[in-house]
Amino acid sequence: MNQLLLSHTNITVASAAAATQNLVNPTVLEWTDKLTNLAYLAAALLFILALAGLAKQQTASRGNRFGMAGMTIALIATIAKAVINSINGGDNSTGPLVTLLLIAVAMLLGAGIGIPRAKKVEMTEMPELIAMLHSFVGLAAVLIGINSFMQPDEKTKAIEAFHLGEVYLGVFIGAVTLTGSIVAYLKLSGKMDGKPLVLPGRHLLNLAVIIVSLVGMVAFIYAGHDNLTVAWIALGVMLALALFLGYHLVAAIGGGDMPVVVSMLNSYSGWAAAAAGFMLANPLLIIVGALVGSSGAYLSYVMCQAMNRSFISVILGGFGGETAAADDREYGEHTEVTAAETAEMLKDAKTVMITPGYGMAVAQAQYPVATLVDKLKAQGVEVTFGIHPVAGRLPGHMNVLLAEAKVPYDIVLELDEVNDDFADIDVVLVIGANDTVNPIAEEPGSPIAGMPVLKVWEAEKVVVFKRSMGSGYAGVQNPLFFNENTDMLLGDAKKSVEEIIANL
Ligand code: TAP
Repeated sequence: MNQLLLSHTNITVASAAAATQNLVNPTVLEWTDKLTNLAYLAAALLFILALAGLAKQQTASRGNRFGMAGMTIALIATIAKAVINSINGGDNSTGPLVTLLLIAVAMLLGAGIGIPRAKKVEMTEMPELIAMLHSFVGLAAVLIGINSFMQPDEKTKAIEAFHLGEVYLGVFIGAVTLTGSIVAYLKLSGKMDGKPLVLPGRHLLNLAVIIVSLVGMVAFIYAGHDNLTVAWIALGVMLALALFLGYHLVAAIGGGDMPVVVSMLNSYSGWAAAAAGFMLANPLLIIVGALVGSSGAYLSYVMCQAMNRSFISVILGGFGGETAAADDREYGEHTEVTAAETAEMLKDAKTVMITPGYGMAVAQAQYPVATLVDKLKAQGVEVTFGIHPVAGRLPGHMNVLLAEAKVPYDIVLELDEVNDDFADIDVVLVIGANDTVNPIAEEPGSPIAGMPVLKVWEAEKVVVFKRSMGSGYAGVQNPLFFNENTDMLLGDAKKSVEEIIANL
């Protein structure tokens, strides 16, 4: 039956090709291919320049402009190629009007959903939005893979086994990215419990899924289009297993370790796009996918180093899952201060360091913080910022907020640059940070053990701005709040900073 279906398909393709043969102008098609590839090369170079620009705050907006220019060239070239090919009857043409209409409908649909969502999104919701977008890339790779198997391209028939391998890997990576990103989205948006899911023998389970998938790959390539039943079963089983693997890998990650997972999924989505590029024989998609895949992997590596985690364990979804014993210790009483008292404290200080965290983003306190910095500097106080690499909810979150409020870059310092200097600081203002200044990270066995933290407690005085005595993202109690040299300034961070400014 399958053979019959296949030969029927071949006959249909062959007769369609014969019907359009008269229309095809090989020279035009060849030149369209050449010019499109040239445009793709220009776009790829612009994307590389974009990534280089985005590496530094000072050059970030230039990097963004390069990226936009690259994407415009890529879009124009892709649409032009599709239209010219359909005029010339190439690529199983449906005619220029239908091609244009299909592209326009897809773009309008995407823009119709994307633009209002992007306008509405709060900075604090960015990680979950990014996670959701990654899931679309995963879904696209799965669909392209299945479609590519159902409608093999004339060009790929010559390299059937290689193409089947691409399809299988593309669907696998896409499916892992799809469910992994959905779980990340649900966890980050608080719609799913952030606690790690610890199934018995979970590493063995993951290994078994990978081994069965590899066996399926051999069966799929071997069966190919000659034995569609076996091929579809192999593809279907692998799809179900890969969807489970994506879910399981991310569900096993808990609390404070999620940032690395988000950047890892970013990397996976890049590889899924590159796989789609291979299946569609689109060089730009391959290049862009590889750029996203490798830069995401490198970012994950840097973040793993910053959080003192093993890179390999992250890829295998293995870290963060060890359940630490609940901390039911009594830390004693905390001391509260008012904004007026904090202002007095600041008047006497010579050196002040601000360590912002997620709460500054929630309160949108970066603008009054920038005004406070100006005021203190005008009074001769030396002010610096100490930025933790995973403060907030996305890499560089604090840097973006401070740049938005026009805080000069030269006083915004990284953890490594400040962590030995806290003893020389008179007052540290911890504005909406919690996990990133939690000394419990230095205790082996704690849920955030090993993660480097800003050693704010070594300063002479610490003032913590937050609304309650509640815990941070990782759900861990923070002993810093109960230290003798720590004062709690409870309330919304923006209001508290504005009151301090009024009192200065
Ligand atoms: P968190 O540990 O998340 O703590 C933020 C604190 O801000 C909370 O304790 C909260 O306390 C306070 N807060 C919230 N709204 C506030 C407001 N309006 N005014 C004043 N305070 C407010 O922050 P962190 O130190 O920045 O650490 C980041 C955490 O997120 C880490 O665990 C990190 O692993 C994780 N994470 C990071 C990323 C990236 S890439 N940066 C991505 C995902 C997860 P109250 O509720 O009592 O006010």
